Amino acid sequence: MTTRDRPTVRLAARADAPAIARIYNQGIEERIATFETEPRTPAEIAARLAEKGDRFPTVVVERHGAVVAWASAGPYRARPAYAGVAEHSVYVERGARGGGAGRAALEGLAREYEARGFWKLVSRIFPENTASLALHARAGFRVVGVYRRHGRLEDRWRDCVIVEKLLGAAAAVSRRGRGSGATRRRRRPPTPGS
Ligand SMILES: CC(C)(COP(=O)(O)OP(=O)(O)OC[C@H]1O[C@@H](n2cnc3c(N)ncnc32)[C@H](O)[C@@H]1OP(=O)(O)O)[C@@H](O)C(=O)NCCC(=O)NCCS
Repeated sequence: MTTRDRPTVRLAARADAPAIARIYNQGIEERIATFETEPRTPAEIAARLAEKGDRFPTVVVERHGAVVAWASAGPYRARPAYAGVAEHSVYVERGARGGGAGRAALEGLAREYEARGFWKLVSRIFPENTASLALHARAGFRVVGVYRRHGRLEDRWRDCVIVEKLLGAAAAVSRRGRGSGATRRRRRPPTPGS
């Protein structure tokens, strides 16, 4: 891959709304990426970008000067305890899939959220979406488990695979603390009656 072919990743601006909407609508149409069924307009996307502001940025990937992918996130839960957890999505233009744009978008998103103090990205993926599962594994996400019959899409039950990636301080704690929690748990005396 030459420097010219390499994708560039940057924060999305209002002017990217038509490209983001076009790429999102391809994913919605395919019914393998999301429970969403209604296409989005560029105006809706532009409003969403403004509403999220710099706290929940969207990143876009450009190749040969055109936006070919985007990744974005939003709040996971309203409770303050979850303030550092964001729930994300990633979409690549149909004709640009399989060329590294999804990975560039997801890794770019993780960098931006880590820089803003987020400690975790999470998402839900349909088990049939092997491309997304492969992408997330490659980008350092782990599978937490599977929600069975989590939602209904066009009268069919759909399972969801939950994935997560720790960022920043949480990732560092998890690397340092691996094994020590188990040791502490073994030493704790048994609770009477348990
Ligand atoms: C899922 C999606 C974002 C992946 O993006 P992409 O640009 O095609 O993926 P990349 O080229 O960056 O590939 C990342 C890794 O996943 C693997 N991968 C990509 N597509 C794959 C497929 N169809 N089957 C198996 N592995 C695949 C690649 O081989 C690569 O691994 P490698 O680095 O070991 O070679 C893209 O297919 C897409 O937009 N799909 C529709 C929308 C969607 O499903 N979004 C996710 C919602 S949860």
